[in-house]
Amino acid sequence: MIEARGLTKVYGMPRDGAVSALRGAGERRRNAVREAGGFLAVDDVGFSVSAGEIFVIMGLSGSGKSTVLRMLNRLVEPTMGSLLVDGADLAALPQDELRQLRNRKINMVFQHFALLPHRRVRENAAYGLKVRQAPAKQRMERADWALRRVGLEQWADSYPHELSGGMKQRVGLARALATDAEILLMDEPFSALDPLIRRDMQELLLQLQSEDRRTIVFVTHDLNEAMRIGERIMVMRDGRVAQCATANEIISAPADDYVTEFVADVDRSRVLTAGNVLRPPLVTARCGESPVEVLKRLENVEMNGIFVLDETGRVVGVATDKALAGALRDGGTTVESCLGGDYHAVPADAPIVEFCDLAGRHTVPIAVVDADRRLLGVAPRAAILAALAVPKKVRHA
Ligand SMILES: Nc1ncnc2c1ncn2[C@@H]1O[C@H](COP(=O)(O)OP(=O)(O)OP(=O)(O)O)[C@@H](O)[C@H]1O
Ligand SMILES: [Mg+2]
Repeated sequence: MIEARGLTKVYGMPRDGAVSALRGAGERRRNAVREAGGFLAVDDVGFSVSAGEIFVIMGLSGSGKSTVLRMLNRLVEPTMGSLLVDGADLAALPQDELRQLRNRKINMVFQHFALLPHRRVRENAAYGLKVRQAPAKQRMERADWALRRVGLEQWADSYPHELSGGMKQRVGLARALATDAEILLMDEPFSALDPLIRRDMQELLLQLQSEDRRTIVFVTHDLNEAMRIGERIMVMRDGRVAQCATANEIISAPADDYVTEFVADVDRSRVLTAGNVLRPPLVTARCGESPVEVLKRLENVEMNGIFVLDETGRVVGVATDKALAGALRDGGTTVESCLGGDYHAVPADAPIVEFCDLAGRHTVPIAVVDADRRLLGVAPRAAILAALAVPKKVRHA
């Protein structure tokens, strides 16, 4: 849906001068721009966003997030680079088509929604449609529909000053929803809200997004917010891309020391999953095997229990060393006679927070299984603890 290549923005100097200053590479570019009196705010940024995706741009203040976002609808003109939106080359669009695109396809949501104080909530929600000159009746119906979706239908006739900050923000969201823009550009839309309301808004956004998927580019400097809502996250540093990946990839394989330090405070147990701590089981048993064979196998690895699998690899239960020894005494012939259910199974995408308390409770590690309950591997307690341990902070010069 959106494809950006080599996006670059120099502030404070004419474009031609900027382009010639940008001829160098790396730090040389930045210095040349500075010496020429400009400021390199965004430097060679490329990414693509698929239809229906929530793509998050994250970084410290001044890293260039808003500049990138504004280049996506040419509120800021890129100094260099190319930008395709739904196949159309944005730079080549004449003014009237650009206006069309901004009116119909792309909607921008700001941190302060700039509600019109003397208009009722309904008219505020309909504002984006008014700009597009939709008929009045249709506008109001659409606004009511959007207000219902954000849970504000009973406030439609109120004025903005009668609403709390969170409610105002929801009106802003309703305004964006009321339009049928396929692309929503959101610049820190929740950062003025207090933490609880902010979480509600994140939930609401995710819920709305699951109902009708739009393409959302979302700017935030809050890492936990980025990890909660972003399918992919682009971490920016000084106008460049430090890493662009899923939350899970960023946490489990940070691109460099900067990203490592940046993500050190995130709640890893909510982002990392069973799949991240999956190991092949040291031993397993098959249905039909004799207790004596299985007990020997356990002895060799000094474990107290073993997963018993059927011929398709499905977990049928756990045999403990005790139960196996008992079966030996009582003359049991197969491992099935000593099966128990003392284990916990999770899917590979289960966040660690959902099962870490249970690690070490059973004689066997947590089982990681597929939808048919086939054993994919185990999540040993030590692997879970190692994954959750925050890497030592790296010092930055
Ligand atoms: N119109 C402008 N003229 C000159 N410099 C600008 C302009 N807009 C932004 N900048 C500079 O470009 C850099 C990137 O700004 P930008 O607003 O994109 O950052 P940001 O990541 O959105 O920061 P924040 O989190 O504070 O909103 C900053 O150093 C800023 O001072
Ligand atoms: Mg900004």
